[in-house]
Amino acid sequence: SANHSPAGQQPTATYESAFLKACRREPVPHTPVWFMRQAGRSLPEYLKVREGIPMLESCMRPELVAEITLQPVRRHNVDAAIYFSDIVVPLKAIGVDLDIKPGVGPVVQNPIRTRADLAQLRDLTPEDVHYVTEAIGLLTAELGPTPLIGFAGAPFTLASYLVEGGPSKNHEHTKALMYGDPQLWADLLDRLAEITSAFLKVQIEAGASAVQLFDSWVGALAPADYRRSVMPASTKVFDAVAGYGVPRIHFGVGTGELLGLMGEAGADVVGVDWRVPLDEAARRVGPGKALQGNLDPAVLFSSTEAVEAKTREVLDAAAGLEGHVFNLGHGVLPSMNPDALTRLVEYVHTQTAR
Ligand code: CP3
Repeated sequence: SANHSPAGQQPTATYESAFLKACRREPVPHTPVWFMRQAGRSLPEYLKVREGIPMLESCMRPELVAEITLQPVRRHNVDAAIYFSDIVVPLKAIGVDLDIKPGVGPVVQNPIRTRADLAQLRDLTPEDVHYVTEAIGLLTAELGPTPLIGFAGAPFTLASYLVEGGPSKNHEHTKALMYGDPQLWADLLDRLAEITSAFLKVQIEAGASAVQLFDSWVGALAPADYRRSVMPASTKVFDAVAGYGVPRIHFGVGTGELLGLMGEAGADVVGVDWRVPLDEAARRVGPGKALQGNLDPAVLFSSTEAVEAKTREVLDAAAGLEGHVFNLGHGVLPSMNPDALTRLVEYVHTQTAR
């Protein structure tokens, strides 16, 4: 497969890509760059192909998924593609009644709050997401040496949508369940870990060269609660895919106090938002892990000079790291000027060329 370099065989161009080398903490020709949410509404070509097609339906059409995934690679010259989908796709695939509402996010019809509600969560089989296998087949053929990143939502972030019934600022129902019924909470997270593991395996077996676990909202938790109530489920996911040897990236927002534990949970690469400089993040994560990040996405709304100055700060803080994958500290915003992103890729590549 494109991912592995078995002893005695010539490593593939994908295996030797700057992105995968940085994830493995090997020397790189330049710091690799990709952007979370690089596909999507910031691109006019995305808006055009998505016209009249609801978000979840677009995730189930292999040719459309492949086209949308390739759009930012063609436009920005990023070092990796990220599979176009959403964190709720595997839940939809096992029959959870949910939708993605434009401008809102995932909305769940019958929130999970009792033991009986767990019955909504059956095991995921590869057949449930056959369109993912098909789309990744199309993509690996088109991408050539550019690695494809598969992804899934982490158990806590998925639970937050399922328990709240939609996006939430304070996660009140989620925390009520976590603190108030620890056994039901543990069983819910364990179910989600099984589903997430199965979904990541489908992507890796189809040809994804790395995976990212998005625990976007886990920064809402204190470290002790993370360790007790969330980390076992996330570790279960990382362990389930460890045998493939593909890099595992772990990302969340507002996770400054959790960075050490997020590394300990089993990631090879820890994603960092813009609140902690990368040299400090490296001290918190400890040795043996690469870091990904961490330009404040809002910087992209300022002048080219300001973007370059802030990018320089990120690169300087990353100078002593063993492995650095440049990214934003969170996703691309829909109103961003895509040309500013293209310039940013070029700037990082030229500044770090070795
Ligand atoms: O990064 C990429 O280019 C891949 C695409 C991707 C999407 N969702 C497409 C999408 C990825 C990686 C996700 C993950 C995701 N989805 C996360 C974790 C990443 C993060 O940002 O922290 C979360 C929390 C979700 C849940 C979700 N889905 C939200 C909050 C929204 C936005 C709602 C809105 O309209 O503002 C979605 C919908 C969604 N997912 C869109 C896209 C392109 C927008 C829908 C559209 O284009 O019509």
